[in-house]
Amino acid sequence: MGTETIVVTGGAGFIGSALVRCLIRSSDCSVVNVDALTYAANLDSLRDVDENPRYSFEHVDIADDKALRRIFAEYQPSAVFNLAAETHVDRSIDGPAPFIRTNLFGTFQLLEVSLDYWNTLAEPNRSSFRLVHVSTDEVYGDLGGAAPFSETSPFAPNSPYAASKAAADHLVRAWHKTYELPVITTNCSNNYGPFQFPEKLIPRVIIAAIEDKPLPVYGDGSQVRDWLHVEDHVDALLTVMDYGRIGEVYAIGSRNEHRNIDVVAAICQCLDELQPRSDRRSYADQISFVVDRPGHDRRYAVDPSKIESEFEWKAARDWDAGLRETIEWYLGNRSWWEDIRTGAYRGERLGLGR
Ligand SMILES: NC(=O)c1ccc[n+]([C@@H]2O[C@H](COP(=O)([O-])OP(=O)(O)OC[C@H]3O[C@@H](n4cnc5c(N)ncnc54)[C@H](O)[C@@H]3O)[C@@H](O)[C@H]2O)c1
Repeated sequence: MGTETIVVTGGAGFIGSALVRCLIRSSDCSVVNVDALTYAANLDSLRDVDENPRYSFEHVDIADDKALRRIFAEYQPSAVFNLAAETHVDRSIDGPAPFIRTNLFGTFQLLEVSLDYWNTLAEPNRSSFRLVHVSTDEVYGDLGGAAPFSETSPFAPNSPYAASKAAADHLVRAWHKTYELPVITTNCSNNYGPFQFPEKLIPRVIIAAIEDKPLPVYGDGSQVRDWLHVEDHVDALLTVMDYGRIGEVYAIGSRNEHRNIDVVAAICQCLDELQPRSDRRSYADQISFVVDRPGHDRRYAVDPSKIESEFEWKAARDWDAGLRETIEWYLGNRSWWEDIRTGAYRGERLGLGR
């Protein structure tokens, strides 16, 4: 990546902020963070880079056609990463409307603006422009006992979140096939790491544990997820942006499947060591099985063979070390998540349906 300007939508979220931090620290390009600042956003995640002259922030909704057109005209980006989304499955069960609006209509709007902008570009900028659309393995639905998802797995989304992402992925494909917009789509497994909003499993469990609250495990906890460190995901996105083939889909994961109950138990064991309870009991005593999420997919897992074999990319972070570092980060950065806990989200149970 050279000195060009890159638009990152959703750059105040978990993965978007990791991408923005990496782009500012490790490249010479300028970054425009386009984020509507929903409850899930946190500009504190960008404190290390937000004074850099190569960083700009635009408080804009990707569904806002006029504002997006202004941004493209003003900054003349050479590439776009689309990470703006409503992302929490439980919230999509309680209220799907924002998911349809942002994930589907917002992606449509971004595609339209990108296409009109791309059509104004002269060579060589026209040939080098890329839009990388960031999606999830949840579009493929419940894997059961089958081999991990790959780029050719059929879509079978089960939650409103997954359906909205699958629909957006279809739009992205169609804008390439019909209008030749140079897009690449990635479908990634569950991410973990620092700066993740505390409604997601790993930070929710860490925080509840040290706050001496029950650690809610949905159903019997036997659901399996394939965990990837957020920085490995960022490396994969940069790889795909630089070397990915236009119109292709890349499945991203690290062959790191774990049952939810085992993830929770691993967090407890690590906390027992890092910050023992004052009564010396294990944090595992706080585990509490709660009623399962409606339509809860039993297993997701990704086969990343395509991205591994086409490029140099391979997930580099070790799960045990990465989980431990993540726990240490939440213990050492209380103010980051305490501000959230006193505001938009207090750790309440979401997603029991309507
Ligand atoms: N977190 C994961 O495990 C995971 C795994 C695979 C794929 N993904 C995908 O990666 C992307 C980023 O996920 P995340 O976990 O960082 O999400 P997040 O919820 O942490 O952040 C989403 C960001 O998008 C912004 N946003 C929401 N609606 C917007 C709108 N209309 N206009 C502009 N900005 C808007 C929010 O303000 C927030 O900053 C999503 O597309 C998600 O589907 C996430």
